[in-house]
Amino acid sequence: MARIIGGLAVSHVPAIGRAIADNRQEEAYWTPFFEGLKPMQAWLEEKKPDLAVVLYNDHGLNFFLNAMPTFAVGAAGAYENADEGWGLPVLHPFRGDPAFSWRLIESLMADEFDLVTCQEMKVDHAFCIPLELFWPQGPAPVATVPISFNTVQHPLPSAKRAFKFGQALGRAIEREASDRKVVVIATGGLSHQLEGERAGFINKAFDQLCLEKLVSDPEYLTRYSSTELVALAGSQGTEILMWIAMAAALPAARRLISQNSHIPISNTASAAMLIEPD
Ligand code: DHB
Ligand code: FE
Repeated sequence: MARIIGGLAVSHVPAIGRAIADNRQEEAYWTPFFEGLKPMQAWLEEKKPDLAVVLYNDHGLNFFLNAMPTFAVGAAGAYENADEGWGLPVLHPFRGDPAFSWRLIESLMADEFDLVTCQEMKVDHAFCIPLELFWPQGPAPVATVPISFNTVQHPLPSAKRAFKFGQALGRAIEREASDRKVVVIATGGLSHQLEGERAGFINKAFDQLCLEKLVSDPEYLTRYSSTELVALAGSQGTEILMWIAMAAALPAARRLISQNSHIPISNTASAAMLIEPD
């Protein structure tokens, strides 16, 4: 039977991809961020998961404002990266597992999530950078299932819907008959806003509350509407939706293994965490 062995989350700022490409991890600006990932990298090295379900938001590479799915699940044999205009190097394709993806899709649909299914899917910095961060030695040694959430064009899925999606994802992985060790990885956040009058907005107190509740009581975060999340975390701070879904996918009995937060990376209050089921 498949089981979730851990939930991970990390911010996905393009400047991080540039720092990796230029090998600048040891520079003073970057060490507080990169050092904080070491316990998570070591944990992955030890536990050796087979498969990563990656909850991220596409920023216009695969989906654009003309056609924006609320939840889209990859069911491809490989996921290609492409030039998305941030000056990032284009990476190798990431390995998929279409049979596993389809079983997840069947289970999520049975749980009343009406999905967009993607037999071709390009993956942007929000998918690629976290995998480069967690497996810095090279291509991530896992099969992947990308799941894109709409955090870009309103109306967004609510925090409550993201929580329920995570619960359904947890059930889907539990129902999976093959013997796999699965990690659920959320990417994005924490507070940030890239445009408008509040460009540069960060809310450290709200981020700390989120980090604490994601471990102790993620359902707490479902009280916020999308408008409240934008007000509290910034217009791109809605990327917390994927963190809520990741936390909801894990069993209630869980513990925090490692956490790091650092302000700022580019315009973003960066953070990373690793939660393990008890
Ligand atoms: C930044 C943050 C993001 O989440 C993103 O997708 C792009 C840029 C930033 O802080 O620069
Ligand atoms: Fe983003």
